[in-house]
Amino acid sequence: MASFPALQMLRQAAPTISVGMLTADLAHLGDELALLERTGVQLVHYDVMDGRFCPMLTVGAPIVAAVNTPLLKDVHLMIEEPLDRLPEFVKAGADIITIHAESTRHPHRALQALATMSNANDPDRGLVRGVALNPGTPIDALDPLLADCELVLLLAVNPGWGGQSFIEHTAARLAQVRERITHTGRDIILGVDGGVKRDNLARIAAMGPDVIVTGSAVFDGKQPEANAHAMLDTLRGPTTP
Ligand code: DX5
Ligand code: ZN
Repeated sequence: MASFPALQMLRQAAPTISVGMLTADLAHLGDELALLERTGVQLVHYDVMDGRFCPMLTVGAPIVAAVNTPLLKDVHLMIEEPLDRLPEFVKAGADIITIHAESTRHPHRALQALATMSNANDPDRGLVRGVALNPGTPIDALDPLLADCELVLLLAVNPGWGGQSFIEHTAARLAQVRERITHTGRDIILGVDGGVKRDNLARIAAMGPDVIVTGSAVFDGKQPEANAHAMLDTLRGPTTP
């Protein structure tokens, strides 16, 4: 499979964190993302929820578009029938768009549609297509989609809220998906999302994900910069003296 800059950036950064912005100070989102940039974080994770696919109603494309940032915009669509909404999130500047296999009868068509769209920040950067699974969805649901995606995101919480506990059977699911990715021979990024804290990050990193989504453990309302630094140091070893 031909690689492209956005996918290469993820591969080079792995293992790394993608920081969820739901518990950031949304009234000062620009400042919050600038804070992340200073820590060496490379991805910001936008949890888009429509209140139908999962209980919460959160943000839409205007919030994704609101802030220009060098961080990669990692958009997690927890919405019913994402197909028709893909263009608005691409236009908003998404670098990664992850749809849920459970959210449409046509996940394969949605991935095919994404393959025809180009990155609004920089067409040469490319657009990473992600497929997410809820904790209760069998891994087999991925099999017809692995040839048409560049990222798999396993939820370690039931979607809807930050601050939940990591569901432990996710470890076995990560191993199963890693095996299936290896079998494809394609460069597919493996992500895990939900329930990742400073005190369980090392253990979860040992399960082998490339991208680890963490929200409330960074934007905890107290010390987001220190949290981000500490989590990056856990993944790559202390860099700041
Ligand atoms: C599921 C979302 C997650 C969640 C992560 O609700 O997809 O990204 O916000 O939040 P924490 O890291 O607080 O579990
Ligand atoms: Zn998410």
